[in-house]
Parts: sequence; C-alpha cells; structure tokens
Amino acid sequence: TLIRLEDYVAPIYWIRTVELSFDLDPAKTLVTSKMQIQRNAAVPHGPLRLHGEELTLLRVLINGESVSFRQEGHELIIEGAPDADFTLEIRNTCAPEKNTALSGLYTSGGGFFTQCEAEGFRRITYFLDRPDVMAVYTVTLRADQAKYPVLLSNGNLLETGELDNGRHFAKWHDPFPKPSYLFALVAADLVSREQRIRTRAGKDHLLQVYVRRGDLEKTEHAMNSLIASVVWDEARFGLPLDLERFMVVGVSDFNMGAMENKGLNIFNTSALLASAATATDADFHRIESIVAHEYFHNWTGNRVTCRDWFQLSLKEGLTVFRDQEFSQDMAAAPSARAVCRIQDVRALRSGQFPEDAGAMAHPVRPDSYVEINNFYTATVYNKGAEVVRMYQTLVGRAGFEAGMKLYFERHDGQAVTCDDFAAAMADANPGSALATRLEAFKRWYVQAGTPRVQARGSYDAETQTYTLTLRQTLPDTPGQTHKQAQVIPVAMGLLGADGQALPLQLQGEAAAQGSERVLVLEQLEQSFVFVNVASAPVPSLLRGFSAPVLLDDGLSDTELLMLLQHDADAFNRWEAGQRLALARIIGAVRAGAALQLDAAFIQAMRAVLRHAELDPAFKALALTLPDEAYIAEQLAAAGHSVDPQAIHAAVEAAHIQLADALHEDWAWAFDAHQVRGGYQPTPQQAGQRALSNQALSMLVLHATRSGTTVWPGRAYQRFKDASNMTDRLGALSALVNAHAELAVPALERFHAQFRHEPLVVDKWFALQGRAAEVDGKTFARVKQLTQHPDFTLKNPNRARSLIFSLCMFNPAAFHRSDAAGYVFWAEQVLQLDAINPQVAGRLARVMDRWNVLAQPYRDAAREAIARVAAKPELSNDVREIIERALALD
Ligand code: ARG
Ligand code: ZN
Repeated sequence: TLIRLEDYVAPIYWIRTVELSFDLDPAKTLVTSKMQIQRNAAVPHGPLRLHGEELTLLRVLINGESVSFRQEGHELIIEGAPDADFTLEIRNTCAPEKNTALSGLYTSGGGFFTQCEAEGFRRITYFLDRPDVMAVYTVTLRADQAKYPVLLSNGNLLETGELDNGRHFAKWHDPFPKPSYLFALVAADLVSREQRIRTRAGKDHLLQVYVRRGDLEKTEHAMNSLIASVVWDEARFGLPLDLERFMVVGVSDFNMGAMENKGLNIFNTSALLASAATATDADFHRIESIVAHEYFHNWTGNRVTCRDWFQLSLKEGLTVFRDQEFSQDMAAAPSARAVCRIQDVRALRSGQFPEDAGAMAHPVRPDSYVEINNFYTATVYNKGAEVVRMYQTLVGRAGFEAGMKLYFERHDGQAVTCDDFAAAMADANPGSALATRLEAFKRWYVQAGTPRVQARGSYDAETQTYTLTLRQTLPDTPGQTHKQAQVIPVAMGLLGADGQALPLQLQGEAAAQGSERVLVLEQLEQSFVFVNVASAPVPSLLRGFSAPVLLDDGLSDTELLMLLQHDADAFNRWEAGQRLALARIIGAVRAGAALQLDAAFIQAMRAVLRHAELDPAFKALALTLPDEAYIAEQLAAAGHSVDPQAIHAAVEAAHIQLADALHEDWAWAFDAHQVRGGYQPTPQQAGQRALSNQALSMLVLHATRSGTTVWPGRAYQRFKDASNMTDRLGALSALVNAHAELAVPALERFHAQFRHEPLVVDKWFALQGRAAEVDGKTFARVKQLTQHPDFTLKNPNRARSLIFSLCMFNPAAFHRSDAAGYVFWAEQVLQLDAINPQVAGRLARVMDRWNVLAQPYRDAAREAIARVAAKPELSNDVREIIERALALD
C-alpha cells in the first residue's frame, strides 16, 4: 500500500516509558515489554493498533489483566483500551538467527545486533513504531556469559550481575525520550578501545569503540575521528555531547554504513576499521566522515527527530551537510577544502542526478512511498545536504549558526518537520535573502528533478556594461509537471582579460561590492546588469557549486581554458577542465565517431599536471575524466538516447590518448610524488598517493599499448612491496585494468595474503567486478566469482563488492548487446530478495534509467525488468522499484 504525506495523523496513543527485557537466544529470543500508555486527547478516540512483524505473540495484559485483542496483517489491535493512562504488557518471541534481512534483532559473527531504522523495531516487539512516539527506555539484557560477555544498550549502565546456568544480565537506562528507530542492543564477544575526554562544558565522558578481538588495532582512526567530531560540534555549533558514555560498535553484516542509535552507534565494519595495511586513503576519509555523521545525528536526528518518514531529509540532509562541513574543516588548507567539495559534487552528479531524472525521481521530501527503506536515497541525503548548504549561502555562516540555535531552542525533544527547520532559519534571519522568499525556497522540498540553468552574457563596450541573463527550466518527473520557479543562489565572479578578478557593481549600486557575490535567480528568467566593466569579461558561475543544478553557460573553449588557468574559485577551475573533457566526449558520442583529443586540450591537461603550485590531490581530480553516469545524464538531458558502450569507448579513448600523449609527464609525476616517511592518512599524503597511483595506471596502460615492460614490472614490484593498502591496491588496479598477464599472479597473491581480512577480500572482489572490460572477460570472470568459496550474497558487503560493482559501476561490462548482463542482474535481484529485501531493492535500482537507453539495450532491459516483475512473491522493496521502472514505458 502507498503511504502518503497528506494522510499524516498524530497517534491516538503515546507511549511514555517502556521497560524491555530480553532473554537472548539465537533461535528464540523472549522479549517482554512493559509500556506506560497515555491517550492523545488532541485526536479522536480509536483502537490501539500496534505494529508487529515476524513475531510470535505470547500474551497481552492491560493493567495486569488479560485483554481481548485481534491480529490483522502486521497489526495487533486492542479495541477496549482504557481512557485513562494504563500499563500494557506484551510478551513475544522472535528468531534472530533466521533474520537474514538484517532489520530488527539479528545475529552476526556469533553475536546479537539490532538495526531499527526505519521500521525494524516492530520485528523485535509490538509497538507504535513511528518516529513521533517518543519514550524513555529501560532495557534488561540476559544472555550466556561466555558467548556474550558484552551486553550493551542505549544510555547509561545501571546494573550488571550473574544469573543461573552461566547466564548474566545488564540493565541500561536512557534518560532521553526517543523514537523506537533509535533503540539498539548488542550482545557479543567484543573488546573496546576507550578514551576519556573532558569537553568545553567541563563534563567528563567515556568514549568506547567495540570490535571483535583481532580488530582492536584498527580502531585508532575511528576513535580519533570521534574525538574530533565531539570537539568540532561544540566549537562550530555549540552542541555538546549529552551522555556520560558514547559507544560505537562494529558489525560485519550490516545493510548500510552505520546507524546513530542514541549513545550506541552501530557501524558496518567497512565504515569503522582501518589500518595502513588494510585500508586505503579513501577508506580513512570515509570512516572519518561516517563517524562524524553518526555522532552529529545525536543533535540533528536524535535530540530533534522527524515527525514522520517523509521528513527524513530533515535529519539526513542536515547531517550530511554537517559532516561535509566537518570534513572540510578537518582538511583545513583551502585547496584541500576544495578537493572535499569536488568529491561531494562528483558523488552528487553521478549518484543523485540520474536518480532525479529516472524512475525513482522524488522530491527531497517525498510525498508518498510503498517501502520507506527505498527512500534512503541520494536525493534525501545528498540533494538534501545541498538544500541545507543553500540556506547557509543565503543567510551566511553566522546566520546559519543563529538559525541552528533557534531550531534547538524551539524543538529540542520534539519530532518535527522540514517546515519547522525552514521557519527557524528564516526567523533567525529576518529580512535575509532567505526570509524574504521562504515559500518559494521551500519548493526545493517538493519539486523533484534537477533544475537546468542557462546563462548567457552580453557585453556592451559603449556603456561598459555586462548583462548576464539567467533562465531556469524545471524538467517533468514521474507524476510532476508544470513546476514553479525555484530559488537558485548563483555564486559568481567575473574575470578580466588577463584572468584577474573584476570588481562587481550591479546597476543601481553606488559602488562595487567585492569580486564575488551571490545572485539569486527566482524567476524563470532574470537579467543582472553589471556596470563599470572595462572589457568583455569571462563569467565564473555557480562557484563552489552553489546550487544542485545543471548549468549551461555557453562558454567557448577559450573561455573555459581561461577559467581553468585563472579562476579564483578552485571548484570552478576543476569544473572548467571537466567541461572541456565533457564537450569532447559528448561530441564524439553524438557524431558516432572515434574521439580524437586536440592539442589544446592535451596541452591544458599537461599544464595542470606540471603546474608548480596546484595541489597533487587537485591535479588528480582535474585529470580524472567525468564519470560515465554523469556523461549519460548530460546526453539524456539534451534529449539523446544513451549508448553506454559508445560513452565508454569515448572515455576509454580519451584515457588512452592522455596516457600516450603525456607519458613523460606521468613518469615525472610518478617519481615526483612518492611519499617519504611513514604512512599518514593526511590530505597531503593522500594527494601524493592519488596522483602517483593515477600516473602509474597511465604508465602501465601506455606501456602495454606500446609493448614495453618497464612500467608493468615496476607496478608489479610496487604491488608486492607497498607498505600500505592505497599503494598496493593502486598498483594492483593498474595491472588488472591494463595488463592481463601480470594481473593473474598479482590477484592470486593478493587473495592469499589477505584471505583472513574480510574487508580486503571485499576489495579483491570489487576490483574484479569493476575491471576494464575486454571481450567479455570481465563479465565471465564475475559470473565465475559468484561460485568462489569466499563469495556469499548473505553478507551485504560481499554482495555489493562483486554484484553491485559490476551492475552499478562497470557500464561497459554490464550493458551487453546479448543482454547477458541484464539476465544476470535479474537473477541476482531475485536471489537477494529472498535473503535481504533492502539490499535487493538497492540492486533493483540499476534499471532506473532503462528507458533512455539506446537499442538494443532498451528492449533487453525492459525484458529483464519484466522477468523480475513476473516473480509472484516479491518484497515491497523490490516491487516498488520494479513497478516504478515499468511505469516509464
Ligand atoms: N540513519 C542512518 C544514517 O544515515 C541510516 C540507516 C538507514 N537504515 C535503513 N535500513 N534504511 O546514518
Ligand atoms: Zn544519517
């Protein structure tokens, strides 16, 4: 059934407190729940309807007396609940070891773990499992002491002790009322790294990171990240840690990255564990940002939570924005901040833009869903973060902080909506560019689709004026047409003939106001007239990617080359290079011709690579070609059908030509960016490794093509001798993608060396799933690897490492003219659906954009989707995705 935002009604009952007790047993866990319930006098009376799934009900008592009830679908319905406050006691069992969906209470590696967001709590016991019902929890865990020495739940530890039969117990109390999705428990054989800290407010806290015994030395980075997060949130937003103890736990079987349960964050080990030998620079960076993300949820999500799941971006968009700001502050140097921003925008463009244009397009605040798990999306998270960033752009950094302060003053302890956040931001900044157009700004929450902005400038030498005309168009998306103009902040500057920044004075202004400003586009078309412009300028628009839009600025190659060389905004410098590459790739794809890079472009790339001042990390990004998914979106937005093989061929040609034309420069770059000294995951070292590994893969590619052996030999040596995973994997990937002969022994050796490190084995599968396709060999290898003894669909990380790598991140291997990739996809979706619907639903989304594919891909994709649709017992998760995809036909 379809759940609609417009149907929201407040609950008829509140649950004020709950005492839970668990007798933990993998096959059959007994749960007792004692709730203090109060009628909500503000809404009409009605029966008490509790959610429950996959539970065995043993008894129901009201005020100690048995009561009549009925069970309908996933509800337990009690008609005769008293008007006055009452106690409801429920006893039920559940089966953690059978819970392969990893939602609710499940077992992993011999321990018990929970995942309750969004609707997992109802798989533990009957409850009002909705975020606007907030209760104070007291939790008693009982379990075998030898197997499960560590017993954790939210809040503070009240009591522990021994019981008969080798069992023991622990009792926890969380003083903060919370929705059920923030409940957590852990019972396992774990060890912890501990750190005591005193915060600015002068309070002492205990931080703990719990992992399996052998993993303790891989927790230092997570602990450092946690400490930095606590310090940052207090310094930047005045938000302190509010619990005596803050626990983080790692688990190997987990559907997402991590979960912000109050005081007891549970993490996918892939988002927690790192050592130089087993994790890459990218892993270190991801761990820092996810540890921060979950910690920041303590205020943005937990202290103030969501009224209903349509408001998910209230906590997720805001918290992603906060973790992005944190990462930038941690990177510190301006160039390293720009690198963070570029990476975030790349992720948005390759993950969110296709979503916003495809079958699952939905607003940042969706207005309906079948399965809420399908809406933990790039739109809710990443576009949501861009919306929050636009608030900050419109009210300024200080204004944003004032808005946050007001938000917490008003709503601490409440379950609220995106409108409440918007109101706090506007009310804290009266008269601001936000407050004066708040209603129009809020269209970002309700209109799906990526706005397109066209910018055209004209210079009048006589009057020395430059007129910039901005137009926006809002594309139709499934179920939404005739959209209204959105409020689009366009940060910009103008560059003079020698690349210098020009002062910006708009007509009607007495004087220039600096060399960078934010224009607010709020009509479908608006013109901005700059005066006292001495010569024809080059506009630098949407600096720092100030709004999540597709920009067409009509700039010529000459103008883009000038921006690449001189723009004061590092993001736009990078963007100019990407635009030059994009134009060439798209030109070749549209002409159906082989791509031939011109000397000017190659020279510009050489200049970037050899530049004396640019950061290595920036260079590596500037020399990385645009993502194939983003290129596909550009074509689709212009009304062309998408031929993934043609796109791939053009990107591959560009790649090869850059390898060949710049091979001496790559050799220089490789040697000049070797890190001396011990491994540190700092932005500086990571940048050097990124550029030297990029250089190495270019050099191996060039060598293989020219039949020389020096660089492949060096790559193999480096692969063997590397002192850290970044360099080892960099060299291995250079071989896997360009040197078939050496790749075989290297892959074998890598597996033998790391077979006891599951997270590294994941990398081994992923590398092969993403390997450059040659004559169908990669696809054949992936199919073969599904039979490898280390492969299983039951572990989400492992399923993602092989299957998602191929279907989502390897378009050339996946989109085959014989449709075998799609057939494989359909089989894997169906197999996964029987195990874990959430993960299956995510894989199903690979076909979101099937209807823009060129033939023969389009028909073959439709057929594969129909095959999945024909299966009688699909989960809600997969069914919703598949039905939406078929609706595009
Ligand atoms: N709230 C978590 C985070 O953003 C994500 C957990 C969502 N889990 C799920 N099964 N949908 O950090
Ligand atoms: Zn989150």
